[in-house]
Amino acid sequence: MAVSPTTRRRAPAAAGPVEAYRRAVNPRKVEVLESLGWLNSFREARGSWLTDAQGRRYLDMVAGFGAIGLGHRHPRLMRALSEALGEGGPFTVPVGVPAGQGELAARLCELAGGGLRKVFFGNSGAEGIELALKLAMAATGRSHFITTERGYHGLTLGAMSVMGHDMWLEQLPARAFPAQRVPVGDVDAVASAMQRAAIAAVVIEVVQGLGGGHAWEPSELRMLAALCRKRGALLIVDEVLTGVGRTGSWFAFQEAGIEPSVVVTSKGLTGGAVPLCAVMMSDEAYEGLFSGPTRAMIHSSTFEGNLLAMTSGLTCLRVIEEEDVIGNVASGCAAGSRPCSGSRSACGRFADAGS
Ligand SMILES: Cc1ncc(COP(=O)(O)O)c(C=O)c1O
Repeated sequence: MAVSPTTRRRAPAAAGPVEAYRRAVNPRKVEVLESLGWLNSFREARGSWLTDAQGRRYLDMVAGFGAIGLGHRHPRLMRALSEALGEGGPFTVPVGVPAGQGELAARLCELAGGGLRKVFFGNSGAEGIELALKLAMAATGRSHFITTERGYHGLTLGAMSVMGHDMWLEQLPARAFPAQRVPVGDVDAVASAMQRAAIAAVVIEVVQGLGGGHAWEPSELRMLAALCRKRGALLIVDEVLTGVGRTGSWFAFQEAGIEPSVVVTSKGLTGGAVPLCAVMMSDEAYEGLFSGPTRAMIHSSTFEGNLLAMTSGLTCLRVIEEEDVIGNVASGCAAGSRPCSGSRSACGRFADAGS
C-alpha cells in the first residue's frame, strides 16, 4: 500500500499528559513520582485545592514550592492579568522604558527600606542570585564567597557554586566560583573564613527552605552585617522563598533591623502565575556593575520586567496589603507556627527535613 507523505509524518498517537511527559521530558521524575504514588496530572487549581483527572481533590501544601502564597488563581490576579492581555501595550520592551517597572521597583524599595534603592527584574530565583553574585564581584573586585551548609540558591551555574550541599555539584567537574560553607548562625566561622580569603559576599537565607528550616537569629544577623561591613564584603540575602510576607514581615531580614547590600526575592511576588524575580540593591552594589554609560546595559535579559510579570508583582503586593496577609502570617507566627525562629534545637531534630 502506498504511504502518503502525510501518513509518514504522522505524530505518535496522542498520549495523556503523564505519558507525553515521560516520553519527551523527564522519565526519571515520572519513575520517582510513580514510586511515591504522586503521579498526578491536575486539571484544576483553585485557592488551596488541586483536582485531578478523576475529580479527586487535594489540599495543596506544596503550593508551588512557595510561589502560590495567595492560593491558586487568585481572582484579583486573574482579573488584572486578563485586563493586561486585553490592553494594547507591548509585553516585552528590551529597548525603551517598559510600563510598570518603575512603579513596582519603587514600591519594593519602599517596602524593603534601608539602603535598597534600585531593583532589577528577572525570570527566576536562580537568575536573581546570578545577578547578586555579579554585583558583589563587580563592587569588590573579589571572586570568593561564603555560603551556608544546606543553603539552596537555585540551579544555574553561579547559584550552584554557592549551594550548601554537594549533591547539586557532584556530577560537574568544577564549580564556577570558590565558596566556603559555614553553619547557619555561626558568625565566628564567617570571621575565620574571611581570614582565609578576600570575600566578595556572604550569601544567606534568613530561614532556609530546602535546607530544612534552619534560621539565623536576629542578633546573629546583626553581627554578620557588621562583620561584612568591616571586611568590605557584601551581604546578599536570598529571600526568594521568605520574601513578600512569608515570615510575618515584608522581608525576613527586616526582623533583625539589618541593611543588606542585595536582597533577591521571587516566589511570593508572582502569585504563581508568571515567572518573576526582583533583585533589590544598594547604590554601592549598583554602581559597581553599572559604572558608566558604556555599562548601562551590562546586565539585562529579553523578558525582564515584561508586562504580565509587572502586573503580577503589582497586583500581588496590593492583595497582600489589602487582605492583610502579613498580619495573618504574623499572628500565625505569634501563635507558634513559625517553623524555626528561636528554636534551633527543634530544627536540629529534623535536620534533614529539606533533603
Ligand atoms: C531560597 C531559594 N533561593 C533560590 C531558589 C531558586 O529559585 P528558582 O527555582 O526560581 O530558580 C529557590 C527555589 O526554591 C529558593 O528556595
